[in-house]
Amino acid sequence: MLRLLSPIWPLTVVFLVGYVHAIGQQSCVSFESLPSSFSLVNDGDVAPVFISSDDWPGVQKAAADFASDVHKVTGVTPKLSNTTFATLKSSTPPILIGTLGKSSLISQIVEHAKLDVTSISGQWESFMSLKVVDPIPGLAEAYVIIGSDKRGTIFALYDHSEQIGVSPWYWWADVPATRHRNLFLSASGCQHGPPTVQYRGIFLNDEQPALQNWAMEKFTNGTGSALLNSPFNHLFYTALFELLLRLKANYLWPAQWSSAFNVDDPLNQPLADLYGIVMGTSHEEPMMRSIPNEWSLFGVGPWNYSSNAENVYDFWVNGTERAKPYESLFTIGMRGNGDLPLSVGVNIDLLEQVVSDQRQILSDVFNGTDVTTIPQVWTLYEEVEGYYQDGMRVPDDVCLLWTDDTWGNVRRYPVESERNRTGGAGVYYHFDLVGPPRDYKWITTSQISKTYEQMSLAVDRNATRIWVVNVGDLKPYELSTEFFITLGWNATRWSPFNLDSFVSAWAQREFDLDSSDAAVVSDIIANVTRWNARCKPELLDGTTYSLTDYREAEDVLSDWAALSAASTRIYNKLPADAQPAFFELVHHPALASSNLGNMWVSQGLNNLRASQARLSTNALADKVESLFAEDWELENTYHTILDGKWDHMMDQTHVMYYYWQQPMTNSMPSISRVQPKKQALPGPMRVSPEGTWDLGRVTTRTNAHKAIIRYFDIGAGGPYPFTFAAASNTSWLKLTPSKGSISPTNTEIRVEASVDWSKITGAQQATINFTATAPGQPLQLTQAYFVANHTVPQADFKGKSSLVLLKIINMCWLGFVEGDGGISIEAAHATRNTSLSGVAWTELPGYGKTLSGVTPWPRTGNSGNNFTIGSGPSLEYDFFNFNTAYGNNVNITVLVSPSFNANGDDQPLAFAVQVDSQTPQRLQPMAVAVPGGSPAGWDDFVANSIIPVNLTATAAPGAHTLKIWMIEPAVVIQKIVINTGNVRPSYLGPPESILL
Ligand SMILES: *[C@@H]1O[C@H](CO)[C@@H](O)[C@H](O)[C@H]1NC(C)=O
Ligand SMILES: *[C@@H]1O[C@H](CO)[C@@H](O)[C@H](O)[C@H]1NC(C)=O
Repeated sequence: MLRLLSPIWPLTVVFLVGYVHAIGQQSCVSFESLPSSFSLVNDGDVAPVFISSDDWPGVQKAAADFASDVHKVTGVTPKLSNTTFATLKSSTPPILIGTLGKSSLISQIVEHAKLDVTSISGQWESFMSLKVVDPIPGLAEAYVIIGSDKRGTIFALYDHSEQIGVSPWYWWADVPATRHRNLFLSASGCQHGPPTVQYRGIFLNDEQPALQNWAMEKFTNGTGSALLNSPFNHLFYTALFELLLRLKANYLWPAQWSSAFNVDDPLNQPLADLYGIVMGTSHEEPMMRSIPNEWSLFGVGPWNYSSNAENVYDFWVNGTERAKPYESLFTIGMRGNGDLPLSVGVNIDLLEQVVSDQRQILSDVFNGTDVTTIPQVWTLYEEVEGYYQDGMRVPDDVCLLWTDDTWGNVRRYPVESERNRTGGAGVYYHFDLVGPPRDYKWITTSQISKTYEQMSLAVDRNATRIWVVNVGDLKPYELSTEFFITLGWNATRWSPFNLDSFVSAWAQREFDLDSSDAAVVSDIIANVTRWNARCKPELLDGTTYSLTDYREAEDVLSDWAALSAASTRIYNKLPADAQPAFFELVHHPALASSNLGNMWVSQGLNNLRASQARLSTNALADKVESLFAEDWELENTYHTILDGKWDHMMDQTHVMYYYWQQPMTNSMPSISRVQPKKQALPGPMRVSPEGTWDLGRVTTRTNAHKAIIRYFDIGAGGPYPFTFAAASNTSWLKLTPSKGSISPTNTEIRVEASVDWSKITGAQQATINFTATAPGQPLQLTQAYFVANHTVPQADFKGKSSLVLLKIINMCWLGFVEGDGGISIEAAHATRNTSLSGVAWTELPGYGKTLSGVTPWPRTGNSGNNFTIGSGPSLEYDFFNFNTAYGNNVNITVLVSPSFNANGDDQPLAFAVQVDSQTPQRLQPMAVAVPGGSPAGWDDFVANSIIPVNLTATAAPGAHTLKIWMIEPAVVIQKIVINTGNVRPSYLGPPESILL
């Protein structure tokens, strides 16, 4: 099998010597003294930390956290005090912290020491730190940490905390601090300019049952807030604010379904501001009020701006006045009460009036402040995007927040003409969903390779003012959330080729693993998310994966088993104090996903075998029951570790959906049992050949030029033990084993049929006699016919090697040969790759359902423009077929990632396919949708995580070349299947064909 070469320029993360990183960041901490480094902790001596009393309270808080983080790591605590430039005395070189323009201490140091702060001055959330000689008269040196603004300083402090060994998730995922005796800071310190994305945040949503039940137990005495019984009080939120800031997020849409941020606890909003979090409200909650709850509690009349404008207006005035003292980002516009579309007939004029009135309110409440300087966002969610497409506009200073389809596919990015708005643009994204075609809210199901592909396109197309991601209950999505925020913090640091290093650096930070174990964790995460993304656990059923063809279901089972084993191996070798974190972040998702996947495949096999009258049905029924029980055990373990710290956090139901919305409990899918005391009508022996469920037709065909092994399962058809023999009438077909004993305690034996291809030419048929001898029963004979067709491509067939032009596509100079009635090709395994105008089809490693995806890269190449059919960058695949589907034709399916026509409807995603010198065919995977609506076929595309794009082409038996032409950027192709007559249904497509 072909292997991909490793990416050519991975930015490897080295933790062994020198300075350590926060993930993806510059490093300035070391654990041994390096030339000219500054001692933070050295042999028990600790540098004191000074701050200025006139700095932001949020900076004071982060400085206190920093001091306590040093204690967590080293056991000694730096003394933290306020000081002034004039009065500071320190016998040990200190750490001095402050915010430009706010801290009098820092201003005087900058002036006295003539520090060059131009790189951060006036910049959003930027910082620098460095060792300074003579910072203050009488002080020889200090390590100075300077933020350009409140969060600049806060992020600088948390960045240092992360580097010394305190995970942002130390509380939220129980990651133990890494202990070190000594801590040193580099003389040149750390710097960070303004983040890629100005507002980076999360949305707690659909928080019932998990987050809400957990918070009720942990943050209340059993009753929530007075009006709504909400548990989301300031005790809960301050823990969350700190996490967000440690992750370098700055923006929050609070939980809203049975709570109201400002009403539940009057400390919530002031504390958000004190900590440094910019509050917003979700896309459907204008003017900083929680909808539907606040309107239900305090609104007068209907939530309707045509019939009840005055009351709604006053309601918004109150929300604005309440938010005025605090840093806020105002959601404007309007949806129906409860996140529903506004009633039919709402027109654009009315919505424009809504927006205009909301801006009047802002202007009035902020005493005539220029309204264009007050941050506002208008979210183009569902029907609202439709209004926009129908011509509704908001003022230029309002940020346009584009959304995904709730399944991780961004519906639209700003097109060229929309990229220079003063309010900019952003993206609202989902890791969790309540909605059709099915909820997904149990466990992690988002691949970072996909998140990267979509969100880096947002960077390319200037949607960088606001990123907010729906994280559901927060807890099962720790890694995805951190990745999303980290990418928004500094997108230039990441590329499709170094995403693995994000996960391995994360694994090293969280569990102190060596690089080889970190690579294992990186694989575990890649696989869990790949397998949960290709079919969300909520959508699995017993027949998702083919039970009869391509050994698909069996491979799925063995993959899950290998993953659980790998995770268990790491779990077992971790020290006890690191196990809870590993369980929450890696092990539980691995085991629980694997268990559920196993349960569904077993249920499918159980049903299948019942239909085949196989006694092994019953063992599979037992297995389903035990896996169903195990599902609960895993949930319960999650709830009971650390004395129940995360009780309820895995309350989400996830087994057996009846329609798109969650079931009220988990129920076991139906299983069958065969009557164990009754013999199947044909006799004691059941012979089940590979590739069919129907035991009446035991002909197996194989068509290949190399080893393909087929099997026959010999099984008990009832209570009578028997011995069987398997004999073929030819020397070219070998059966292994050729005999065996079956009984109710050993119900199945697999007999493998292998062909000695050197002994046959063309198609030949063998007869296999399976005989069963059971005491007191007549001899049972079952005959099977086995057709082997030795197909050999012409001697000179071989894809031609060519220069590999980009980082991409491995050195593959091979052609694919038909076997078993089809040719299956991973898109990354092109025979030739031709770039043009600096754009080349490039592999996105780890992306998609099976191996990876290919996409034209960079997306900004050729000025982001398209190519006409047959003129752009291309990929070529040489193949050889022996058969055709009909006439001289083959059916081709190109498996494309679900993706929207996000570059505007006049430039829908498209590519072209050409076979040999036939006319290239233009293909458009996704239909153009009605404004605000979903394109035809969307439900199936997202549910199956793929768009099959079909075409036919002429390809008489022989050697051919299939060519894929770029037309539009941002198309991602995963796999190509050429059906020459016998491609059978499966979830992942046939396994990749043999290469010559
Ligand atoms: C520094 O001064 C601020 C403002 O008076 C105060 O809130 C804070 O607690 C002081 N910090 C320390 C460490 O004394
Ligand atoms: C719970 O009750 C204790 C004891 O009365 C009290 O100190 C604490 O503040 C209460 N906590 C909450 C969140 O109400």
